[in-house]
Amino acid sequence: MNQEITVFGKTFVPFIDRHKIQQRISEIATQINQDYEGEEPLLIGILNGSFIFAADLFRGLTINASISFVKLASYKGTTSTGNVVTAIGLDENLQGRHVIIVEDIIDTGKTLSAFIPEIYQRGPASVKIATFLTKPSALKYDVKADYTAFEIENKFVLGYGLDYDGIGRNIPDLYQLK
Ligand code: IMP
Ligand code: MG
Repeated sequence: MNQEITVFGKTFVPFIDRHKIQQRISEIATQINQDYEGEEPLLIGILNGSFIFAADLFRGLTINASISFVKLASYKGTTSTGNVVTAIGLDENLQGRHVIIVEDIIDTGKTLSAFIPEIYQRGPASVKIATFLTKPSALKYDVKADYTAFEIENKFVLGYGLDYDGIGRNIPDLYQLK
């Protein structure tokens, strides 16, 4: 993992290698196993970016847990509230469920701040957030993750599910814009 890679003319350098990623995810899985002992949480992964992280995190769980995925569609609103985010494919009954939202990265927090009220409307017993990455210095909305694999600086990253214009999600390590 000492090679630079180029995507659409932009150069990315190695940032966090796959072993460190897997190590950190197993720590989070262990924490979730303890926190939800005796419960059956429902993980909700947000597509597309979270699918790799969600798969690895889910495999680390030894408690009884379920997983589902949603895709978020944002519409340019004509009201002062701006974009409205709607979940596609959220057909699970969340009444009384312990929900863990799984995200690839919290950047400004806009996506999750719009999505979380929609989850609460469905009457879950609890809602927590697990994210692979956070960029604390980019945060603009009131969103706080309960489980974070890595806090990173405000630079664009690629790999491990995260893309640059659709490319790079399959790279097992995390790269950073040079
Ligand atoms: P937010 O709504 O500003 O928190 O943005 C979250 C979404 O933006 C993530 O789910 C990603 O799809 C995308 N995103 C933010 N930062 C990056 C990055 O550094 N690399 C790739 N995608 C990113
Ligand atoms: Mg995403």
